[in-house]
Amino acid sequence: MKSNRVFLTGASSGIGAAMARAYAAKAAAGGASLTLGLVARGAVKLEELAKELRGRGATVHVYAADVADTEAIKKAALAFADAAGGADLVVANAGVGIPSALREGDASSVAKLMQINVIGVTNTIIPFVPTMIAQKSGVLVAVSSMAGHRALPGRVAYSASKGAVIAFMDGLRMELHGTGVHAMTICPGFVKTPMTDVLDHKMPFLVDVDEAVALMTRSIERHDDTYTFPWQMRLLRHALVRAPEWLVRLTAPGARKAGTI
Ligand SMILES: NC(=O)c1ccc[n+]([C@@H]2O[C@H](COP(=O)([O-])OP(=O)(O)OC[C@H]3O[C@@H](n4cnc5c(N)ncnc54)[C@H](OP(=O)(O)O)[C@@H]3O)[C@@H](O)[C@H]2O)c1
Repeated sequence: MKSNRVFLTGASSGIGAAMARAYAAKAAAGGASLTLGLVARGAVKLEELAKELRGRGATVHVYAADVADTEAIKKAALAFADAAGGADLVVANAGVGIPSALREGDASSVAKLMQINVIGVTNTIIPFVPTMIAQKSGVLVAVSSMAGHRALPGRVAYSASKGAVIAFMDGLRMELHGTGVHAMTICPGFVKTPMTDVLDHKMPFLVDVDEAVALMTRSIERHDDTYTFPWQMRLLRHALVRAPEWLVRLTAPGARKAGTI
């Protein structure tokens, strides 16, 4: 699959920034053209990354926007498709873990998390559907999480948001069957990024961000349906979805720190 027109949210940090760098490095090494659309809220970090990647030969469009803003993201998506002459790959990667106050009866932080982690994904993916159907090609990727495979104590809203993303992309893949457009989900375990740097519980099978991106880009090349990594998490996933609740309650990382994410 050619991935020379790539639109990527959450591009200013962690997995998103590493993925932008990986695609730029691959294009530079192969002498291929690359047009990147980078989205995050913070313009300064995005511009710094854009400058770095332009130095490596990529054409980079920066869209400082909140993925929760349906109109702003649609505008960015259409501007990118127009500037790049289409889109080969869209990665809805932006996501957050926000401490929630479930026990205090405060729903606002959960509403905010859902707006970013769920609506942010649909806002990013859907505007590209007509373009890709017209092209008869393209890959739509959502970054979910291992936590999306099973509701977890201590990260109730986060795991629910990531589960919704898996369900949405599963349905979309079936909806788009036969159009040439592939919809897929990537479910990382723990990856070392600013998001996990703030966690103070054990993170089994923690993966370096560049290794994570190498696994993710290979999965995108293969057109997987749902890809969970690293392999230990992929094996554990099957046990996790079948485990009784008492076992999940006792063993989920961070389970005893209710409301941490
Ligand atoms: N790291 C892990 O262990 C892990 C595991 C499983 C899944 N994931 C998922 O992987 C994705 C990337 O995580 P990461 O670890 O790379 O996190 P990160 O380093 O915190 O990066 C998150 C990125 O998303 C952007 N972002 C956050 N809220 C946004 C919003 N409302 N609108 C636009 N952009 C927004 C951030 O930029 P701004 O703040 O400037 O907007 C940043 O670029 C997330 O969906 C996360 O849930 C991560």
